[in-house]
Amino acid sequence: MKRLFLAIDEFLRPAERLCGSRDRVGNIEIHEFPDGESSLRIFDDPRDREVVVVAPLHRPNRLLVPLLLLGEELRLRGAKRLIFVAPYLPYMRQDAEFHPGEIVSARALGHLLSKCWDAVYTVDPHLHRIHDLAEVFTVPTTVVAAAPAIGRWISNHVERPILIGPDEESEQWVRSVAAGLDCPWLVLRKNRRGDHDVEVEVPDAFSAQGRTAVFIDDIISTGHTLIEARQELQKRDVNASIAVAIHGVFADGARERLEEAGFQRIVTSNTIPNETSEIDALAELARCFET
Ligand code: R5P
Repeated sequence: MKRLFLAIDEFLRPAERLCGSRDRVGNIEIHEFPDGESSLRIFDDPRDREVVVVAPLHRPNRLLVPLLLLGEELRLRGAKRLIFVAPYLPYMRQDAEFHPGEIVSARALGHLLSKCWDAVYTVDPHLHRIHDLAEVFTVPTTVVAAAPAIGRWISNHVERPILIGPDEESEQWVRSVAAGLDCPWLVLRKNRRGDHDVEVEVPDAFSAQGRTAVFIDDIISTGHTLIEARQELQKRDVNASIAVAIHGVFADGARERLEEAGFQRIVTSNTIPNETSEIDALAELARCFET
């Protein structure tokens, strides 16, 4: 079956990265009306094709409804198979009813996307209380790991690292990068009291002697997790000023906040393209579409 890649403007380059030189990437034009409704336009004929839509979802609410409309319409226009590629999959952190009545967004979004698309590809979704995307998606999902690419970056840029996860949830990534680098690692404990209010605790036995401390987390959103973690380490005379994350969401001026807090190097992968995207996590995703 012939394949057609489609992407909206701001994601054309990442989509080209995934499709390689085999094909061009078709443009999805989105116009937002004054009342917030969207009008979509595609210029390629999806009939009898496998259509791969590559979408940036770090500001998810702006695009989720348009993408559902798109999936529906592609099917009506005769697409045979619909593949959704979200290098950053949002809403996965709301993976439980933390307060009575809260919607488990990870489950709801998984079910919703499964109604529209035949398969979903992503890089390191935030899986914690949900262990596998198959628990929330009813269509096949493919997860690509950024750990090897992160490991390569650290090994090229940091001497004698010790990897620090700012909370228990980061352990899976820290452990896996550390295994590849054969270096020590440790995770801190976090208590989140609100969007901008977190408390981080360092275990008593912590020592980073002779090592360069590098934080690793999956997502930087407001930056408060890393800022608190850095401050706690400073109290132990450890200067941890390198932050590495897979998904640089950077909400609300987070980058500036991290810099002001003393981070000298902030590095993320290219699942969300921005100035900090030094780690190539899309290469592995591209391999999924080589055949
Ligand atoms: C949640 O546990 C994630 O792994 C990140 O630690 C979290 O999303 C970071 O958020 P923020 O940058 O807003 O503290």
